[in-house]
Amino acid sequence: MKEDIELFNIIAQAFLKEENDHPVAEFVDAKDLKSSVDIALSQDPLNDEKFLATVKNLVLKTPKTASKMFFNQLFGGRKSKAVLGDLLAVLLNNSMYTYKVAGVQVGVEKEIINQISRIVGYDTNLAGGTFASGGSMTNLMAMIMARDAFDASIINNGINRKMIVYTSQQSHYSIIKNASFTGLGKDNVRYIAVDQQGRMFVEDLEQQILTDLSNGNAPFFVNATAGTTVLGAYDPVSNISEICKKYGIWLHVDGAFGGGVIFSEKYRQLVDGLEKANSFSFNAHKMLNTPLTCSIIITQDKKHLFDSFSNDASYLYQTGDDEYNLGKTSLQCGRRNDALKLWTLWKFVGTKGLSNIVENQFYLADVARDYIKNNSDYTLYSFGQSLSICFNYKNIPPKRLCSLLYEKAEIMVGFGTFEGQDFIRLVTINSENSREDILNFLKKIEQFVVENEELLLVDSSEIAKSVL
Ligand SMILES: Cc1ncc(COP(=O)(O)O)c(C=O)c1O
Repeated sequence: MKEDIELFNIIAQAFLKEENDHPVAEFVDAKDLKSSVDIALSQDPLNDEKFLATVKNLVLKTPKTASKMFFNQLFGGRKSKAVLGDLLAVLLNNSMYTYKVAGVQVGVEKEIINQISRIVGYDTNLAGGTFASGGSMTNLMAMIMARDAFDASIINNGINRKMIVYTSQQSHYSIIKNASFTGLGKDNVRYIAVDQQGRMFVEDLEQQILTDLSNGNAPFFVNATAGTTVLGAYDPVSNISEICKKYGIWLHVDGAFGGGVIFSEKYRQLVDGLEKANSFSFNAHKMLNTPLTCSIIITQDKKHLFDSFSNDASYLYQTGDDEYNLGKTSLQCGRRNDALKLWTLWKFVGTKGLSNIVENQFYLADVARDYIKNNSDYTLYSFGQSLSICFNYKNIPPKRLCSLLYEKAEIMVGFGTFEGQDFIRLVTINSENSREDILNFLKKIEQFVVENEELLLVDSSEIAKSVL
């Protein structure tokens, strides 16, 4: 192992240098994958020298998601103390299902759950939570708990009526996928309209619930989004919670993208009323910049986790108390230790440090929005208090511009659509960035447009050819 840690060091140093010198990896067309990197596996072993060269080449050609020119997704940046924690988790290789196998790491996970429950405003004597492999999975867990809380007989007998899920038109696609996974059925998802800023219309929600009740259907689950995927909009949790209370419906808040605001005194108001939600999930691998994946769900009453997810298995649970055998409250059986990376970061920077991360992200979003608003070559399509800045430059079709920026290894940034309008979506999630980095991103686009005017005017299929 010692030698491979040294190898890791060599490769990591080369990668960090490359990331600094060339923040966007050279474009590799999918059809040229095999000729560009030695990926094929064979009968024969490689010698040390060849092995190092091959792995290094593979690493250097991989898209760089932590660099200063990566704005493509809702994750980015690299908190090195969190990377350290994740590297240690790999070295330790515990599985989080039992206290016997995970030991003190169980304490790490429980401390994080406890702290988050306290910050959200839950009663920490009752609340519980767990980690799952991403926001889609924590959303799934919420739906399963709500389903079983609505009708406990479903666990043994299955579903025998139309149970209805409510979510906004701007919510994440995992909600409808999960309706199919849970046996509820995709047709039983009601998409509620949103206002101009992408937030759920509460009046429409209530109207839809009343329609379902009068049709003999069973409303049981509302998903409110804290940070929608495209616009970064926050549904009005407090108002939605009133409706849920009135009709006895489980309220889940999907904060996969924007839930990190709980750490900031200034931005916590975006999820006002969160303590009234039955469950809340958020991805530390998004706003807290930990490595993927680090997704957490908490619920007001841990009883629901046990009701839906515990199962006896004499070959597994052989010691201790179920409070410490975390497999009794998780979706998976074997489960990697996703808590340690958040704990090493949190321990090092303190809760104040997490707040600084979040507030810097909003500051960077303001920097971008101000620049765009004050420059008539740009059109802005999104709103304040969001990490997602949607814009177009000189009316250039965003898909064309983003694709060319990627293929020419200049910038990785994506595009989105809201109410029929396409735009570039800049996400200021990398809290390591500074004001200069954001301005540099915009200036780079401007320069790129000047240098590539002709390419930007031709048909997109021609673009691919011209770049190759
Ligand atoms: C609002 C929202 N919910 C859920 C998810 C899914 O999270 P994950 O990619 O970790 O499954 C995303 C991902 O971007 C999201 O934006």
